[in-house]
Amino acid sequence: MSVKIALVTGASRGIGAATAVRLAQQGCDVAVNYLSRADSAKAVAQQIESLGRRAIVVQADVSDYDQVHKMIETTVRELGGLHILVNNAGYSSHGGLEQLSLEEWERMLAVTLNGAFYCARLAVPYMRQAGWGRIVHLSSLRALTGSAHGPHYAAAKAGLIGLTKSLALELAPYNITVNAVAPGYTDTEMNRKSLAEKGDQIRSSIPLKRIARPDEIASVIAFLCSEAASYITGETINANGGIYMR
Ligand SMILES: NC(=O)c1ccc[n+]([C@@H]2O[C@H](COP(=O)([O-])OP(=O)(O)OC[C@H]3O[C@@H](n4cnc5c(N)ncnc54)[C@H](OP(=O)(O)O)[C@@H]3O)[C@@H](O)[C@H]2O)c1
Repeated sequence: MSVKIALVTGASRGIGAATAVRLAQQGCDVAVNYLSRADSAKAVAQQIESLGRRAIVVQADVSDYDQVHKMIETTVRELGGLHILVNNAGYSSHGGLEQLSLEEWERMLAVTLNGAFYCARLAVPYMRQAGWGRIVHLSSLRALTGSAHGPHYAAAKAGLIGLTKSLALELAPYNITVNAVAPGYTDTEMNRKSLAEKGDQIRSSIPLKRIARPDEIASVIAFLCSEAASYITGETINANGGIYMR
């Protein structure tokens, strides 16, 4: 495939970092977005450059429309266009219906859903201009199972599946596909605490008996961003080691 320009949000670590590198291996130039960890983002950019691809680092809080606007404009100005958007930025927090603060409910929806919407809205004009585009949203196993300790997270991730299908329908005429990936337990900082506390119990409940490596999720995302996935749109691909069947 000819050189494509990708923006991966939340690419300073975890699944986003692995995706940025995987896309570079696949021939993409990559904008590496981060929120607070500039050094980690720069290390990811260096890894991409060592593969012979171009990379830039862009700080932005995806829940802030003006910051997203600047991030997209910087990406297009410095890399020359935008073909692929991976809406990966996210975080987790815990609390049931009556424990969650209203601020936390709103923050989760703002980062997860508003962030994905803002990025897609501002990136799509460049994809339309190119006559080719890929958008991938990071949903979650929790969107399908629900979560007794994180209704805000599960609801926001389920919202991304609705957004995926809606944008897939709207953008299909422009040769832009929109899909989601729903990972199960993946070995990143996001759930390091719960893995340290009850890792054995979690592993034994997974048919494949292990936690995913970030690169195992990245390879699914990168496939959906590739030419090989040209006829897939509006789908949510589960990568959870079989735990959803339990
Ligand atoms: N790990 C899992 O088991 C799992 C399972 C299902 C779904 N997911 C989803 O997969 C995605 C990646 O998760 P992960 O485990 O790789 O997480 P992670 O290791 O905690 O990394 C989170 C990334 O998101 C960035 N970020 C957080 N808030 C942001 C904001 N407001 N604006 C821009 N960037 C922001 C962080 O930037 P800084 O480094 O600068 O703070 C970091 O790069 C998330 O959407 C998550 O919900 C993860």
